[in-house]
Amino acid sequence: MAPVPKSPGGEPIWPNGVLGSLAHDYRVAVAAVGSSEDLEGVGIDVEPAENLSADLLQLVTTSRERARIDSDPYQGRLFFVAKEAAYKAVYPLDHVLLDHHDIEVDLANQQAIVRNGRIVELRFCISSHLVALAFILS
Ligand SMILES: CC(C)(COP(=O)(O)OP(=O)(O)OC[C@H]1O[C@@H](n2cnc3c(N)ncnc32)[C@H](O)[C@@H]1OP(=O)(O)O)[C@@H](O)C(=O)NCCC(=O)NCCS
Repeated sequence: MAPVPKSPGGEPIWPNGVLGSLAHDYRVAVAAVGSSEDLEGVGIDVEPAENLSADLLQLVTTSRERARIDSDPYQGRLFFVAKEAAYKAVYPLDHVLLDHHDIEVDLANQQAIVRNGRIVELRFCISSHLVALAFILS
């Protein structure tokens, strides 16, 4: 066992050779952990499986994403969870604070593109909650 302290930027500090990400709400906690031999970055997020409000939808999604909102049965929530997971995957690499509009999510291709050009792979799990896993392979 080893402690996983938190950096000033908020991301967990994993033992050498390990990459991971954490997320929690009041009911559910999730973690993704892998080897730095396989992964350059990994992020995870969890959200209730509920539609996003109209206000939040505007805040979180770009106009291009809203044009494809039909691909999200949760009307924006999948975009939200994907962006937070992607942010957690790239922050430890770039140390740049990102806005939701700095990440463009393509649900059909399960990818997110960050404004600096990084491409992050996405996978989803949907049950009582939506879980997004974001990763960049080595
Ligand atoms: C990182 C962030 C997205 C976490 O979201 P949250 O809904 O508050 O909380 P979650 O349960 O999903 O995740 C919390 C965990 O994320 C991890 N985390 C926090 N900051 C992180 C960062 N900069 N990079 C990677 N992981 C981070 C920590 O392990 C944290 O666990 P802890 O609270 O037990 O220490 C949010 O706090 C944040 O820093 N936002 C600023 C940037 C932003 O939101 N941009 C819009 C999305 S692109």
